[in-house]
Amino acid sequence: MKRLSFEALKEMFHTERLLERLILAVASVRDSQVGPLWCDKPIVPCNAVRIRPVLIKETLRYQGEYRCGTQSLHRNYEKKELEAELPLLLKAYQEWHIYTDLFDLEIKRLASQEYSLRQTPASKKKPSLMHNREKNYRLSGPIPFLIHLGLMDETGNVFPRAMDKYKQINKYLEFIDAVLPSFPEGEPLRIVDFGCGKAYLTFGLYHYLHNQMGRSVSITGLDLKEEVIRFCNQVARDLRMEGLSFKQGDIARYMAEEPPHLVVSLHACDTATDAALAQALQWQSPVILAVPCCQHELLDQLRAPAMDPILRYGVTREKQATLVTDASRALMLRAFGYTVDMVEFIPLEHTPKNVLIRAYRDPHKKPRSTITIDDPGYRAYRDFLDTWGVGKTFLEGELSRRGLVGGPISIR
Ligand SMILES: C[S@@+](CC[C@H](N)C(=O)[O-])C[C@H]1O[C@@H](n2cnc3c(N)ncnc32)[C@H](O)[C@@H]1O
Repeated sequence: MKRLSFEALKEMFHTERLLERLILAVASVRDSQVGPLWCDKPIVPCNAVRIRPVLIKETLRYQGEYRCGTQSLHRNYEKKELEAELPLLLKAYQEWHIYTDLFDLEIKRLASQEYSLRQTPASKKKPSLMHNREKNYRLSGPIPFLIHLGLMDETGNVFPRAMDKYKQINKYLEFIDAVLPSFPEGEPLRIVDFGCGKAYLTFGLYHYLHNQMGRSVSITGLDLKEEVIRFCNQVARDLRMEGLSFKQGDIARYMAEEPPHLVVSLHACDTATDAALAQALQWQSPVILAVPCCQHELLDQLRAPAMDPILRYGVTREKQATLVTDASRALMLRAFGYTVDMVEFIPLEHTPKNVLIRAYRDPHKKPRSTITIDDPGYRAYRDFLDTWGVGKTFLEGELSRRGLVGGPISIR
């Protein structure tokens, strides 16, 4: 164990080229009631700081993650900026753990204002920064919930087996970015994630919108599975994610205290996506983002003699059933006055379930809370399904049960 003065400690960063060698630096036990040192209006004192190198647009930066209460604030430093701020950071915290590719260092401030230094062999492998170069991921750096759920190690490296899921969440967050202007400011953003499962997306939404962007949110994840919901609520408590909760139940029966601004679903199976759309239509939610999967409902129903070359083979029939289901969903959303598009959610290599149905309520148009079976929009939906020999769908059933479609639905 060595003892160093503050000046000698600063010098050591330079002589040992600690920033060049850095894998991760973790500061804890703050000394004063400071917010992030660079923040004009510190909101909450920062309990801990983590700094690690990242590549952003091909350039080396140092990402500082400041944990302030339940929020994480981020700042990307150029090397020179970090060097300039380092003395202040070193002074603000009593303990540092510095991981480099050659050795680990434990630094503690002593009552004498000197620093004790313990050097041990390197315990972390230098991460490849390549994954940051490929994409500017919305969730990058060590993310507490991803670490907690075992998708990422402490230095922010995503485990290979978790890469597909990680990419899906990040991609979804890109779509969230694009729709943020559709939501009112000045009130918590209400989001429901239908069929949340283990809730990687739900946690991702919370982390991105609340911890990273500082937005006030009220997010609910809903799923049929009791055990999964219990687990997710425990994780939310462990990570002190206030404003995030999970409920067990069926999408079709879910009652929201207040209508959500955003309804999301990611791979809610088969007609669970339709139940989510029907709920969103009833709430007239400004934005709906649904990535469907397992579209089985129409599989056995499809009858269209001219399409026999497609429908006679199982594999093409299945693909066609998926297309007809999703196209008809888009038609129904349009019938209710939504602007709809369908985009590739993520390249096929990461998931074959890769179509995102994106629907927005046009703020300049009067929303349509109900439609009738004579409306041109509804007729377009029915005519399309009639062409494929499809009878009353689950979605139609849900909408008429809720009184959103008026008049008896007649099937040809
Ligand atoms: C394929 S998983 C997707 C989970 C998660 N969204 C994801 O992408 O990782 C589908 C989830 O939807 C849930 N689910 C299916 N039907 C549901 C329903 N009617 N109500 C609530 N949850 C449902 C299932 O329990 C399952 O957890």
